[in-house]
Parts: sequence; structure tokens; C-alpha cells
Amino acid sequence: MKKKSAYCVAIIGATGAVGKESLEILEERKFPLESLRLFASKRSAGETMACQGREWKVEELTPQSSFTGVDFALISATDEISREYGLKLGAAGVVVIDDSAVFRMDADVPLLVPEVNAHAAKQMPRNIVAIPNCTTTPLVMALKPLHDAAGVKRVVVTTFQSVSGTGSAAMDELVEQTKALMSFRDVEAKVYPHQIAFNLLPHIGSFSRDGECSEEVKIVLETQKILEAPAMRITATTVRVPVLRCHSEAVNVELERPLKPNDARAALAAMPGVLVYDDPSKKLYPMPLDASGKDDIYVGRIREDFSVTNGLNLWVVSDNLRKGAALNAVQIAELLIR
Ligand code: A2P
Repeated sequence: MKKKSAYCVAIIGATGAVGKESLEILEERKFPLESLRLFASKRSAGETMACQGREWKVEELTPQSSFTGVDFALISATDEISREYGLKLGAAGVVVIDDSAVFRMDADVPLLVPEVNAHAAKQMPRNIVAIPNCTTTPLVMALKPLHDAAGVKRVVVTTFQSVSGTGSAAMDELVEQTKALMSFRDVEAKVYPHQIAFNLLPHIGSFSRDGECSEEVKIVLETQKILEAPAMRITATTVRVPVLRCHSEAVNVELERPLKPNDARAALAAMPGVLVYDDPSKKLYPMPLDASGKDDIYVGRIREDFSVTNGLNLWVVSDNLRKGAALNAVQIAELLIR
């Protein structure tokens, strides 16, 4: 990418849960912005949003929208939009950083977490970089130092995913259902197939014929791709929980070689972007309320799994809108301009 003093960034899906977070992150990190183009659906066109001391108008995204002069397009809207605009913008020379699953497994699209596999950004023939699923990113950040230290053989992960992973409408639904239940009114489920308030759903995405959720398949394939470990055995169960923000993961790891919990703690603490938050004697363990609004991946409950040889258990919590999506995308743009 040609070095410039400032860049034109387009955010497609600017008014959504991830889009709004992207604006905050560009501001916090003082990203060298020459200009910002904000795109959403017709219903948001004309609204303004603030970033870096200026007001920017939201434009309706249409096939006629011009992207001339845009350096980066951060897409976080729908799969259809990623499919329609990702290829087109990439071919026109815009660097596309895409939050959907549309391109993630394509061999010529890097799937990037800068702290883990920055080297993969060297090859991006289609000008498209994908960011992983919001549960894969924290998982690979926790696995990477353990894999380097002792070789990860098998992973069993169960996720506890907040409703913000589904977007703003799901956050509203949780709040509305909670209010309704607290005032003895009937609840209405529109976004999810069942009530989410005071409940949890062992179902994210669509079911395959084998009974796996698409979210579970994404975690397996994306982790193997990012860690360049196609033989790593991984199995996942993904659960939607009535939490507004932050995804949590119970991770069981089987290693090739022994690694004591204290050595695992040291390896994790040395990993950029990971915060070891682990002192059960003080009731200190990561919770969504701790990690909310934070950049780091929080890791705690690090302990031996005595039921297998070289087994470890961890509890990982991270802000799905930040490192799980918007922050990772902005960090990729920063990596590409460095
Ligand atoms: P809008 O707010 O105008 O509907 P979330 O993940 O929080 O649901 O956000 C989805 C984002 O994608 C929003 O910014 C939304 O815009 C945008 N979006 C959804 N559908 C379209 C569309 N057909 N064209 C452009 N933007 C869209």
C-alpha cells in the first residue's frame, strides 16, 4: 500500500453495532484520517456521526455509490453486501477489510489477527482481507502462545456469546424482553427463534445435516487457517446468552508436551493483546463486565485438566465489538500502512 500522511476510509454499515465502534476506535487510536465516508441503508441516509472532531454524513449505499479516492473500506453490514461490494471494491483498488464470513476461507484472502499472523498480509491479490469470527479471534490469541510453547493437539471450546454479536436489533430485543418480563408482560421473539432474556440458546447460525451450527464450523476452520495447523483437532459448541456485550469461552486444550499452568500463564502474559486475569483466591477471573470496552483478551481460570495427558483449561473473555470486530479491522489497516 502506498504510504501517505492520511487516508480516506469508508465504513459500510457505519450505523450498526460494529460500525459505531469502528468510529470510536479510529478516533481513540488517532488513525491518520484524511476523510471518512459512512454508508448504511436508506433509512439512515442523512444522519451525521462524529469522529476526530468532525461531523460526517451517512450516505445510502447503492450500486451507484462512488468510491473514488477511498483507500480502505471496512465492511460490517450483511453477507449480501460483502458479496456485492467486496469483490467490486477490491478490483477497483480499494483495500477491503471485511467482517463477514463470505471470504474468510478463500485461499487468496488472508484471515488476519495482527498479533498472530501478520505475515499473512503480504499476499492479498484480491485486495481483500477478512477478519475472523468474533469468537475465533480471542481463541487464536489464547492458543497461539500455548501452541508455540507446547504444541496444541486438540481443543474443545464452548462459547457464551452476547447478543451484540447479532447486531443492534438483538441488543434491543434483549432489553425489550427483559423489560416486558419484569412488568409481567408477554415477550416477543423476532431476532432469535426463542426468548433470549433469562434464557440461553445452544444455537448460533444455521444447522448442518450433521447437527453442527455454522458458527461452530467457522471456529474450527478459521482457527486451523490462522494458526496454519490443518491437523489441529477442534470441536466447538456455541451458545447465545443474555449478555449485551462480550463473548466468553471455556477452552479445553490438549498439548503435545507438558506445560504447567504457571508456564502457560507466563506464555499468555507475554502475548501482545492478552491480559492474564487470574487469581481465584481473590475471586479474580474474567467476566463480560470486566472486558467490556477493553481492547485486551482476558484469560483466567488457567488450570490443569487432570483427565488427560498434558491438558489445560482456560476461560477467555473479550469484547466482541472491539477485538472481535472493529478493533481488529482498524489494527489491520494500521498494519497495512506501516
Ligand atoms: P441501517 O442502520 O441503516 O439499517 P447491525 O449489525 O447492528 O444490525 O448493523 C448493520 C449495519 O448494516 C447497519 O449500519 C445497517 O444500516 C447496515 N445495512 C443493513 N442492510 C443494509 C443495506 N441493504 N444497505 C446498506 N446498509 C445496510
